[in-house]
Amino acid sequence: MASLPRLAIFVSFTSFLLFSASSSQLPGAKESSTSSGDKVPLALYYESLCPYSANFIVNYLVRVFEDDELFSIVDLYLSPWGNAKIRSNGTFVCQHGEAECLLNTVEACAIHAWPKLEKNFPFIYCVEEKVHEGKYREWESCFGELALDPKPIQDCYSSGYGEKLELKYAAETNELEPPHQYVPWVVVDGKPLYEEYENVISYICEAYKGTATPKACSSQVSRSIIQKGRKTGRPSAPVCYKDSVVSNLSKMIRSAISKLIQAMVI
Ligand SMILES: *[C@@H]1O[C@H](CO)[C@@H](O)[C@H](O)[C@H]1NC(C)=O
Ligand SMILES: *[C@@H]1O[C@H](CO)[C@@H](O)[C@H](O)[C@H]1NC(C)=O
Repeated sequence: MASLPRLAIFVSFTSFLLFSASSSQLPGAKESSTSSGDKVPLALYYESLCPYSANFIVNYLVRVFEDDELFSIVDLYLSPWGNAKIRSNGTFVCQHGEAECLLNTVEACAIHAWPKLEKNFPFIYCVEEKVHEGKYREWESCFGELALDPKPIQDCYSSGYGEKLELKYAAETNELEPPHQYVPWVVVDGKPLYEEYENVISYICEAYKGTATPKACSSQVSRSIIQKGRKTGRPSAPVCYKDSVVSNLSKMIRSAISKLIQAMVI
């Protein structure tokens, strides 16, 4: 069952890459981080209504799109499932309720219907910007704002195809190694950034092995070193944990560790 959507996604993603990136080799898949030429694989595992996922997309990920040089060295992969779960009867439970299941599926449909990032990302950005502003219920106005035809998304959703796409995203999220602990779960060149996701561009720059180094990279790398130096003093970037028990436990552990570190420094 899952092989059809997986193939469809793979084919559309591949054709986008072939279309847009003449210089890079044929990508195997996002799993094989070394086979797509010099491009740095960047994957975002997220869920539509987690405010921190929205913040990451609207304030950090968007920078990759704002800089042509940067955009040209990145292989971006979006996976809208996050901390959702599949019930024994096959229906989905999402961390932020039914609306999140709907919007995850809508975004999966957008990636499928408009395989080019230049077309699906503005739509996902628009929806997540509404989430960020606390008015996700107005997400449908994104079609009008971007002059996009809603029909392919409606068809994908109502035919049940969106659900199949989501099953594929669920499977790959659950197969992540190391497993994801929260969202946004940002993976650069196969390595999760954990709570350092705000420095995503520095990590892209560090992972880049090619010769077309974007101008943005020279300033970014030094900024990342400065921020890493400050790490103990600064609160970690916020996230939506896989479940709240883990959240409480990890908060307790983290505060105990930071107290211990402070005691050692003093
Ligand atoms: C699936 O299970 C949930 C909770 O157990 C229930 O609310 C829902 O109606 C069920 N859906 C179907 C289609 O069986
Ligand atoms: C987590 O901690 C908060 C208070 O800090 C508490 O209200 C909540 O019930 C806890 N959740 C779990 C699942 O233990």
